[in-house]
Amino acid sequence: MRRNVVIGNWKMNGSVASVTTLVKKIIARGFGEKADCFLCPSFVHVKLVSDILNNSSSNIELGAQDLSEQIEGAFTGEVSGEMLSDLGAGLVLVGHSERRQRFDEKNYLVAEKYKAARAVGLIPVLCVGETQIERENGETEKVVGQQLRVIVEECGSELMKGSIVAYEPIWAIGTGLTATPEQAQAVHGFLRETLSECSSALADETRLIYGGSVKADNATQLFEQRDIDGALIGGASLDAEQFLSIWESAER
Ligand code: PGA
Repeated sequence: MRRNVVIGNWKMNGSVASVTTLVKKIIARGFGEKADCFLCPSFVHVKLVSDILNNSSSNIELGAQDLSEQIEGAFTGEVSGEMLSDLGAGLVLVGHSERRQRFDEKNYLVAEKYKAARAVGLIPVLCVGETQIERENGETEKVVGQQLRVIVEECGSELMKGSIVAYEPIWAIGTGLTATPEQAQAVHGFLRETLSECSSALADETRLIYGGSVKADNATQLFEQRDIDGALIGGASLDAEQFLSIWESAER
């Protein structure tokens, strides 16, 4: 049985004051009996969030939005997986569409980052998703299938175990448009089938989460779908009430 998971991706938002308030509000009413919860602040707030979580009895876990594919050394501005895990992070996003599109991260780099995360024991959350044009051209499966297969082929089934795959249609990120539960389920089903080419155990165990304008009022329907095991939440995770409500839906 796969456990649901909700991940808040705060992107480049927040100040020391606002992040402190947000984490404390989420901790105050946290759930967690049936669904895991990770918060991914910006790098500069990772230590702050780590300290707040450590000083609470909360079961909320820490994540990060990206990492370097390098281990250490002269890579100005980069942050290594080791640094993140040293601060208590347990998970890291790799290949978010904003990194792919705005920072030109290609599949091979995403694979390197995936391996770098694994090397230090971080759970990689591999993000895949198609653009509006690719969807209109009927290329969704081709695009997300390739994004997933590259990692499976590069890293092998052993390294895939225990990871999370996030389906995030690019046209739904930050736009207010959400894939319908049926559209999301269709792609999740396809991703699980793709994983089963590697092994049926891997397909059964891997958590496939949806991202793209997930809100309190559409989360339940998404989580009801057979192959949706949680959500990666951007905008709505900056609002404690919205985020808690999504987490609560994932508990059912
Ligand atoms: P959104 O972002 O919820 O604001 O659409 C999701 C994401 O980018 O992970």
